Amino acid sequence: MAAPRRRRVSLDGRTVLVTGASSGIGEATARAVAERGATVLLVARRGDELERVRASIEDGGGRASAYSCDLTDHDAIDALVARVLAEHGAVDVLVNNAGRSIRRSLALSYDRFHDVERSMAVNFFGPVRLTLGLLPAMRSQRSGHVVNIVTWGVQLRAPKFSAYIASKSALDSWSRVAARETYGENVAFTNMRFSLVRTPMSAPTEAYAGRGATPEQAAARVVRAIERRPPHVNTLAGNVGELLNLVAPRLADGLFHRFDRMFPDSRAARGAAGSDARRRSS
Ligand SMILES: NC(=O)c1ccc[n+]([C@@H]2O[C@H](COP(=O)([O-])OP(=O)(O)OC[C@H]3O[C@@H](n4cnc5c(N)ncnc54)[C@H](OP(=O)(O)O)[C@@H]3O)[C@@H](O)[C@H]2O)c1
Repeated sequence: MAAPRRRRVSLDGRTVLVTGASSGIGEATARAVAERGATVLLVARRGDELERVRASIEDGGGRASAYSCDLTDHDAIDALVARVLAEHGAVDVLVNNAGRSIRRSLALSYDRFHDVERSMAVNFFGPVRLTLGLLPAMRSQRSGHVVNIVTWGVQLRAPKFSAYIASKSALDSWSRVAARETYGENVAFTNMRFSLVRTPMSAPTEAYAGRGATPEQAAARVVRAIERRPPHVNTLAGNVGELLNLVAPRLADGLFHRFDRMFPDSRAARGAAGSDARRRSS
């Protein structure tokens, strides 16, 4: 059996890899873990944005390295794993944060199977491949933690998010199973089921304007999860929704159907918005 898990884990001197560190929750998390003394490995596609984050962490006295990688490219992930292990040895904490959200109704999705494919590519296959690459070294050193940034949608099953929630639920479930196999080697998994956070990802949806936590508030919750290693971090609304889905699924369907009609597809989802919104939400 593993060592007791309740002890608070210090970030000082740890190596923490954060995907999606060029923006939003990932950037704020990278800054927060670096402030606590961790060496942070920044991963995302945009090398210039990673360099901006890396330079500003190092200017503040922290330690950071940047690795440009498209997490939908499996060969690139394998090369990233090889490079990280060669340069830093085992990663102590992996934060699978990079992701793509798609909020689009079924009525607009009949000819958009690629929405399902690209959600799975970045939200499930990419993080699983990266985790599989880094897990053996964690298990050998008998210490490690994988933190997945998922969504309260895995509990709520909110309409218009079918592709997104399915891909995040896949990662959530995969990790719960993995946690049971790695328990004996002191490697833990945490699923962070976040509600709305104000980032470039949520910006194209007009209904979300001005709502949600800041990236820094979200990052503080990630840091707390790294220190305490819970199996999941939920919201109260997510727990209530999950309970309702369990005990009264037809009632839940009816209530969510009403919400669905109250909040239509965004302009970005309908394809009428500017190119940036389309890039992030199409
Ligand atoms: N915002 C919310 O309300 C909310 C709520 C619950 C959960 N989440 C989850 O939180 C995570 C972070 O999202 P965010 O809100 O902070 O959005 P964001 O600011 O748009 O950040 C997304 C990050 O993912 C990276 N990324 C996207 N595709 C990638 C790819 N193929 N390869 C490598 N990196 C990729 C982006 O970097 P590059 O473009 O440089 O590659 C960026 O750094 C996501 O997994 C999201 O699903 C967000």
